[in-house]
Amino acid sequence: MPRLHQKTALVTGGARGIGAAIAQAFVNEGAAVILTDIDSEAGAAMAARIGADFLPLDVTREDDWEAVAAQHPSIDVLVNNAGITGFEGPFDGAPPAHDPEHASLADWRAVHAVNSDGTFLGCRFAIRAMRAKGTGSIINISSRSGLVGIPMAAAYAASKAAIRNHTKSVALYCAAQGLAIRCNSIHPAAIMTPMWEMMLGDGPDRAQREAAMVADTPLKRFGSAEEVAALAVLLASDEAAYMTGTELNIDGGLLAGSAATPGG
Ligand SMILES: NC(=O)c1ccc[n+]([C@@H]2O[C@H](COP(=O)([O-])OP(=O)(O)OC[C@H]3O[C@@H](n4cnc5c(N)ncnc54)[C@H](O)[C@@H]3O)[C@@H](O)[C@H]2O)c1
Repeated sequence: MPRLHQKTALVTGGARGIGAAIAQAFVNEGAAVILTDIDSEAGAAMAARIGADFLPLDVTREDDWEAVAAQHPSIDVLVNNAGITGFEGPFDGAPPAHDPEHASLADWRAVHAVNSDGTFLGCRFAIRAMRAKGTGSIINISSRSGLVGIPMAAAYAASKAAIRNHTKSVALYCAAQGLAIRCNSIHPAAIMTPMWEMMLGDGPDRAQREAAMVADTPLKRFGSAEEVAALAVLLASDEAAYMTGTELNIDGGLLAGSAATPGG
């Protein structure tokens, strides 16, 4: 029996990277998957490729979530995966400063709008869409940056910390209501996806830059989106029925030792 048999799962930011890998893994495990993204063209193409349905969803927009809720009043699994660092570009000149002294309020808010507001709206949608059955799994993609300070990406780090904490509020709220709606966070570090492209660039020095980025990672390599997806499958499945409010790190051992901050 596939591990997500008869489950309906919605994944945000599923057009590429970790979201696409999670959507693919869920399909492989027998789930009916609604892949969503702000990028409709790439999202629809990815959904068609893996055998999922596609819906456009900008996670920052309440009206978009309402439209999703109207179409899918009941779901079993939600993955709040959509996220931005604030360094996606393209920029007119150098990327903007995101350190605590120079970051602009607009840049701070833009990152929080997607990462924290988007996760709050997603959790609210999911609790309502799971309440009738009284069971479900909400998986929030935070980051190792939600567990340690990142001086040059302060907005990203704070927003990911907000996701970690909100996960626990949601978990406790649902448990207190007598609902078997579980909520957990995943904390990846250095997973090779398009998110890194701006920072790694191309050309002959790329391999060197890649190696430098993971120099402080005990396993000395980037992780893969499929490795993160495997954790999401576990949390989505009934095998994780006793797991709620917890955080799972997938970081090549980075947080096992010192608080080194690669690139920072
Ligand atoms: N790649 C890593 O090393 C890493 C590490 C830690 C955490 N994460 C987190 O994992 C998640 C996925 O990261 P990724 O590396 O696959 O990123 P990515 O940039 O490759 O993909 C992000 C996806 O989110 C979509 N998106 C952006 N803004 C959106 C919005 N407002 N509404 C809906 N969709 C939106 C994009 O179109 C894109 O398809 C993010 O939350 C990220 O912060 C990634």
